[in-house]
Amino acid sequence: MYLHGTSRINEQGHLEIGGCDTTELAKTYGTPLYVYDETLMREKCRAYNQAFQESGFSYQVAYASKAFLCLEMSRLAAEENMSLDVVSGGELYTALQAEFPAERIHFHGNNKTEAELIMALQADIGCFVVDNFFELEILHDLAKEYGKIVNVLLRVTPGVEAHTHEYITTGQDDSKFGFGISSGQALQAMKIALLKPHYNVLGVHSHIGSQIFETDGFVRAIEVLGTFLESVRTETGHAMKILNLGGGFGIRYTEGDTPLPVANYVKEMTDAVREQFTKREYPLPEIWIEPGRSIVGDAGTTLYTIGSIKEVPGIRKYVAVDGGMTDNIRPALYNASYEAMLANRAYEEPEETVSIAGKCCESGDMLIWDLKLPTVASWDLLAVSCTGAYNYSMANNYNRITRPAVVFVRDAQAHVVVERETFADLVKNDRVRTKEFV
Ligand code: LLP
Repeated sequence: MYLHGTSRINEQGHLEIGGCDTTELAKTYGTPLYVYDETLMREKCRAYNQAFQESGFSYQVAYASKAFLCLEMSRLAAEENMSLDVVSGGELYTALQAEFPAERIHFHGNNKTEAELIMALQADIGCFVVDNFFELEILHDLAKEYGKIVNVLLRVTPGVEAHTHEYITTGQDDSKFGFGISSGQALQAMKIALLKPHYNVLGVHSHIGSQIFETDGFVRAIEVLGTFLESVRTETGHAMKILNLGGGFGIRYTEGDTPLPVANYVKEMTDAVREQFTKREYPLPEIWIEPGRSIVGDAGTTLYTIGSIKEVPGIRKYVAVDGGMTDNIRPALYNASYEAMLANRAYEEPEETVSIAGKCCESGDMLIWDLKLPTVASWDLLAVSCTGAYNYSMANNYNRITRPAVVFVRDAQAHVVVERETFADLVKNDRVRTKEFV
């Protein structure tokens, strides 16, 4: 298993993260457990900020909170001078509860409800990313009703397909998100928005996909956006101030993944914007981006206790852990691959090939196929790396399994930032009908 951030093997031969021995973490907090390397998350935030500072552009780096959010994560992002991308009332609520500065919150989503829009209006958030014609109308009606002038970006689809899993590509024309540029809808939406007195139209947003390793998709999107903004200027006389290029920067889950350093993505993107806008004699915009996975993904490790082991003679050895698709649905949903190691016997050489199964009643609940490990025994501690993004945030209660706790580790200290769910939590919204009715 590749050791990310502060992860290392300590003198006891145990995996250590943030100076904390993972076998101690498992004893103290139980398993499954999400462990986040706080130093690594902060380093990532700083790398983005520094790369933009070096570019000379005005900018905002908005952490895409869908990757992982809780009160402490909101606080960490605020401390690291990040803005925040939220996509629901729940994410917005969490950020506001953590006193994340409202003016740095950007609200996304292809079907924001009226209640969510009102909540965001009342909180005076920094920007709404308007996704479709319906929202273009209702947000303006609400802004008028609440006496607000709101900052908006229009989400557009540049018709660029990123080379990634089809479920997580979003920039192509046939997408549920945004106004299509090639169909002319984006220009039409821009003209409508610019006439609305309660809108302050700042610019456009485009997000082409997720877990992207190359920069050419971004560069092509920037070209299309440059052409589009030029046509908006020609048709309406308005130049846009902000270009939001979304997120999607890839990380290394397994050997085959080859992400670029954060600074390279930023440099290629800012160079492309400079080139495209200069050649059109268009004022250089402020650039916003929205990394999620690349801030938290490789900072997260999940610890599991190994339980039952089943050998299918001549075929396969199934090693079951005390979690599964409830805390990591990505293998089942996207065929995602992960690396893992025995955290309590980290110095031992691999001796056998096993497949890691979850505990859910579903054959597809497999976390890792064909993983090389030292000879595994029940009660060993398995660490799966790179589980920081879209694991906790997509966790669920299938089979009424409780969601794990989350701890942040740094400088040999661990703090619980999300408590483990209890059985009482599972039934707290259930209601039993009265006898008379039944
Ligand atoms: N901005 C927008 C508008 C997005 O839709 C997303 C991700 C991001 C930013 C952040 O992208 P990131 O930097 O994290 O790649 N559940 C899937 C990923 C879905 C991504 C959805 N949108 C997964 O587990 O891979």
